[in-house]
Amino acid sequence: MHDRFLRACRREPTDVTPVWFMRQAGRYMAEYRELRKKHTLIEICKAPELALEVTLQPLRLGMDAAILFADILLLLEPMGAPFEFAKGEGPVIHHPVRTRADIDALRVFEPEEGLGYVLEAVRLIRRELDGKTPLIGFAGAPFTIASYLVEGGKSSDYRRTKQMMWSEPEAWSALMTKISEVVRTYLRAQVTAGAQAIQLFDSWVGALSPADYRAHVKPHVSRILADVASMGVPVIHFGTNTGALLEEQVEAGGTVIGVDWRTPLGKAWTRIGHDKAIQGNLDPLLLCAPPEVAAPYARAVIAEAAGRPGHIFNLGHGIIPETPVDNVKAMIDLIHSIPLAREGVPA
Ligand code: CP3
Repeated sequence: MHDRFLRACRREPTDVTPVWFMRQAGRYMAEYRELRKKHTLIEICKAPELALEVTLQPLRLGMDAAILFADILLLLEPMGAPFEFAKGEGPVIHHPVRTRADIDALRVFEPEEGLGYVLEAVRLIRRELDGKTPLIGFAGAPFTIASYLVEGGKSSDYRRTKQMMWSEPEAWSALMTKISEVVRTYLRAQVTAGAQAIQLFDSWVGALSPADYRAHVKPHVSRILADVASMGVPVIHFGTNTGALLEEQVEAGGTVIGVDWRTPLGKAWTRIGHDKAIQGNLDPLLLCAPPEVAAPYARAVIAEAAGRPGHIFNLGHGIIPETPVDNVKAMIDLIHSIPLAREGVPA
């Protein structure tokens, strides 16, 4: 049993630092690209056998955890906001949510009904992993999901999202409440189906000021995180560009806080508090550099953790498709070769 990941989530000592990567399954792997010639991303997500296959693909590289293969946007369709991944454009939501009537029309659905195929994949993966590698389930956080719904796709400035948040606070609150209710029940259902840890992806929340986060996002995130944590599984609260929001995010909840590379891990951990575990935070682009170039940066991340129990090595964001597979393997081997020296770590 690979229990390093779960031990680190609970801040228990481990022999070496556990490692997994966001987007560890995907286009950087030849096996994945091969499967994508025959099936779209959505088809893979909707076929539990294929989602199982893709979830397992990267594990031969030696990660300490598996992450369910799915996407944070899958809940849009059962909410009544269908979308597609358009070539070269990313996600496109056919009818973006712009008015109070649009918000009122969104459905809060039962997870087994609307996303039963994901829950079936979780059950299949758990059975297949057979306790050898822990399984992480996930969902997008309400701000990040709302940004896709309101903008209609990816955005560089979140113009419409922020306008709704500031100008129509009641409509915004109704939207965030609906999304949160879907995310909360969906995450609970993933845990019931067998997910052993949960990551909440608030990938784009770093676009907000601390005051806006506090007023318009935090109560919704808190409700989700408290409820999922009450099921007894570790909850990883992740965002990017969150250097100005860390304290707020910690207050919102999470047993593990995920940080990107913009804040040195040691400083981030001090601000988060050593009573929480931390995940991160190598720049994902370093996996495109030769292993001997990336190694000192990875060692520096480990050094920042100072041998304290409760560090999970990861990137600051997902693996990019151009990443050479051999570099990913070399990075995992490097992390696993560094013994944890606990001497001198303050209790
Ligand atoms: O991490 C994993 O290995 C698990 C699978 C996973 C996917 N998406 C599969 C996927 C996870 C955890 C996600 C989360 C996700 N999806 C996020 C949050 C994390 C982040 O990256 O910030 C976001 C914002 C999305 C929405 C999304 N899905 C975007 C913007 C895109 C890119 C579209 C494009 O054309 O590049 C996707 C597609 C997607 N989801 C891929 C994968 C592996 C790309 C591969 C493909 O098209 O086959």
